[in-house]
Amino acid sequence: MIDRIEAYVEANKDRFIEELKQWLRFPSVSAQSARDSDTLACARWIKDHLAAMGMEARLIDKGGKPIVYARAMGRAGRPVVIYGHYDVQPEDPLDQWQTRPFEPVIRDGFIYARGASDDKGQVFAHVKAAESILRTGGQLPREVVFLLEGEEECGGDALPRHVRDEKALRPQAVIVSDSSMYDERTPAMTYGLRGIAAFEITVKGPNKDVHSGSYGGAVANPAVVLSRLIAQCVGPDGKILVPGLYEDVAPVQEWERENLGRLGYNDAVLKDELKVPRLFGEAGYSTLERLWARPTFEVNGLFGGYTGQGAKTIVPATATVKISLRLVPRQDPDKVRQLVLDYIRSICPDTVRFEITQAHTSPPILFDVNNPAMRAAQEALRFGFGADPVFIRCGGSIPVVNTFVQQWGCPVLLMGFGLDSDGAHSPNERFKVDSFLKGARASAHLLLNM
Ligand code: BES
Ligand code: MN
Ligand code: MN
Repeated sequence: MIDRIEAYVEANKDRFIEELKQWLRFPSVSAQSARDSDTLACARWIKDHLAAMGMEARLIDKGGKPIVYARAMGRAGRPVVIYGHYDVQPEDPLDQWQTRPFEPVIRDGFIYARGASDDKGQVFAHVKAAESILRTGGQLPREVVFLLEGEEECGGDALPRHVRDEKALRPQAVIVSDSSMYDERTPAMTYGLRGIAAFEITVKGPNKDVHSGSYGGAVANPAVVLSRLIAQCVGPDGKILVPGLYEDVAPVQEWERENLGRLGYNDAVLKDELKVPRLFGEAGYSTLERLWARPTFEVNGLFGGYTGQGAKTIVPATATVKISLRLVPRQDPDKVRQLVLDYIRSICPDTVRFEITQAHTSPPILFDVNNPAMRAAQEALRFGFGADPVFIRCGGSIPVVNTFVQQWGCPVLLMGFGLDSDGAHSPNERFKVDSFLKGARASAHLLLNM
């Protein structure tokens, strides 16, 4: 059976790639309401595509962006859910793209486009695996359900709501490909995700932008005040200075420490990839620990005053920062949010007003690596990629995974086909064509052996 499927993938790979390019042309940027009709068209396209493969497919409206649902019947047992997201991050800064973000091109074995790796390309590997089974007369051992959301990148609640309403579905496992391999050659099972708590803080000074000659010296400058607030949140040694923030942080487990050592991570590779003079992070921890098992405080965006060409001498009325903290196991996002709010309130001078709005939160998560579904996924990766998979954690967050665990209590198999160097959320995002095809083979193996 699997030989027939391999042959089908090989024979049809050029068409698969052309189809992926078509899907990548939709600018499904969930954060921007001006893109709502494109995002909807993107959902419809993949829904129709799944229907044309012979699946029962429809859009589910739970408010917000539609959920793409598609189902193929299996011989027996509980279903397997394949989760992914069809929404993408904003494409800016546009001038840093070598080719246009929504006009996919193949260059040096990679497909370049916004969403190529995060997450359309990874989702499409599973779509083509399902097609390969259905079109070669294969019988799925279990029912397969695709659940593709359009709000992952903007912290929407439609899919979590749907999952809560479908508590009775109780799948055997949820397969998620929205993360990375360990490196180009080494596939990986991800057993941990960091959580997140995100805010926007606006410091408000004078009631309008004013001449810095006439008023500078008489009122506090919101941008200066904000910079000082930010600097008081994280020290030069990378330690977060919000009191109590490290209180609940779980240490890495013993087996993980050994595993981390075995992975043989090389800092020089990362330094070269990012062209920084030196890597930086919380003192006293290795790079992988800092990325996977320690909380961080990041500024995602910072603005205020005049940012156009040339000079403009003003004291700005406001300054704004977008902040997110990555959280690790046993940290509670609501508690962290409160700690940050209390701290900012305590250090903000009374010369300005400030306003904090909360963006999104998602709890951290850690999975048990010892279960049969995990072993089936490892076997599938070994088959698809021709190399032994390793266990890794991941520094990013996939909020709905928590809802899967809470509602369904089933294993969640995070088997990413991407690479951290794919440039997710960056200009020139790409996905290795070879990983796409190997991912499809791995997925077919898993769907036939669950
Ligand atoms: N696919 C990523 C999650 C991810 C990031 C996996 C890095 C592996 C490595 C996902 O699309 C994502 O970007 N999630 C957001 C969630 C946030 C908006 C709540 C994130 O992690 O910032
Ligand atoms: Mn993603
Ligand atoms: Mn993302």
